Amino acid sequence: MPSRTDVPTAARYSASKIVCVYHNWTYDLEGNLTGVAFRRGLGGQGGLPEDCRPETQAPRKLRVETLAGLVFGTLSTATPPLETYLGAEIIQRIRRVMRAPVKVLGSYSQIVPSNWKLYLENVKDTYHASLLHTFFTTFRLARMTQTGGVIINDNGGAHASLTMVADSGGREYEQAGMRAANEGLRLEAPELLESVDEFGDGCGLQILAVFPSFVLQQIRNSLAVRRIVPKGLESTELVWTAFGFEDDSPELTQMRLRQANLIGPAGYVSMEDGAAPGFVQRGSRAAPELLSVVEMGGSEIVSCQSKVSEAAVRGMWHAWRQQMGL
Ligand SMILES: [Fe+2]
Repeated sequence: MPSRTDVPTAARYSASKIVCVYHNWTYDLEGNLTGVAFRRGLGGQGGLPEDCRPETQAPRKLRVETLAGLVFGTLSTATPPLETYLGAEIIQRIRRVMRAPVKVLGSYSQIVPSNWKLYLENVKDTYHASLLHTFFTTFRLARMTQTGGVIINDNGGAHASLTMVADSGGREYEQAGMRAANEGLRLEAPELLESVDEFGDGCGLQILAVFPSFVLQQIRNSLAVRRIVPKGLESTELVWTAFGFEDDSPELTQMRLRQANLIGPAGYVSMEDGAAPGFVQRGSRAAPELLSVVEMGGSEIVSCQSKVSEAAVRGMWHAWRQQMGL
């Protein structure tokens, strides 16, 4: 039997007001209390006293800001403005992808059997991509022989990793006998690998994540937002929204849909990311007194050219420690 925490969240809602199912108190979309059931009682009996001001006990309001069509929210009054929180370079990398009004192509979610931080760590781990993901390496979508880099913002919590399409054609993976390089494999439907340089900069992959819960993905022409929703200590819901743009041609939409086979719970690439954090969860549960080593690429949290680095992972843990007061 799945546990209660395994019930997926509905992807979208539409409402003109918010009504509490328990006592029918009603709020507007700003979070202001607009109605109290039986406020004056019934037949002169019961109800709230005249001087009671339940409006002052309203739920905390969500602070929201929009950026390039994306809506970011926080319940904290201490969170800095979005522009400061993200930093100029990350904003520029978000605007690069969100280049026009969006057309949503589909949405789905999956449960990852780990703590939410292990999935976020996976997204920020630029070292694993060409080693875990055999599809990436075999079909040369992402190898370390392709140039690129990692951009990390000042607070460490946001990063963007970039991989250029151009490949040196080197055989480093094959010569090292790495499992991720499957020589001789061919696709029955090679059109899956067809792509266009829609951003005009030669960058084939951009994975961007903002602590604690936002991921923006460009894998060739497959674009998606991923939201990380904690569902318990060892359960995380990952909500995917695949999108294109209103001005896409039918051919480009088809290309995006074909490439969407790479992502999601059964994606040729993303399937492994849904499993690996669960392996780490099981391993760390067995040895809670031990520490992880996150020293690939040194110990700094700075932007770098090499993706053989855990700099973005260190940035994530730095941001988490700040939030936790550690
Ligand atoms: Fe991955």
